[in-house]
Amino acid sequence: MIYVTRREVFSAAHRIFIPGLTDEENFIRYGKCSNPNWHGHNYTLEVVVAGEIDKETGYVIDLNILKEIIKTNIIDKVDHKNLNTETDFMQGIIPSSENIAQAIWNVLADKIPAGKLYSVKLFETENNYFEVRGE
Ligand code: NI
Repeated sequence: MIYVTRREVFSAAHRIFIPGLTDEENFIRYGKCSNPNWHGHNYTLEVVVAGEIDKETGYVIDLNILKEIIKTNIIDKVDHKNLNTETDFMQGIIPSSENIAQAIWNVLADKIPAGKLYSVKLFETENNYFEVRGE
């Protein structure tokens, strides 16, 4: 089995909060990530596809195709956007990195034309990352 990774970066704004709580209650729960005036992160996304090598092409998946699938379905919807208000696949979901990574997995899982989606890794900072696998 070969594992092919495509890395993308994007910048996005969000606010982590529960709508039914006051700003003070959200601050106690989520700290500065609950800032009512939003804040942003420079995210790094790694999408891993696992598969066998196609004898004819020598590829597991054509990386240009994978890049285009990620761009159209994810990057165009998140880069320089507000995840709470602008990203269709994040509507009604608390935009924690766990939930963003899971939502990205859900969007991409059935769109990989060769091999299988193996993992989605989302780096929120240099020190924190979140990984979803189809297990
Ligand atoms: Ni944040």
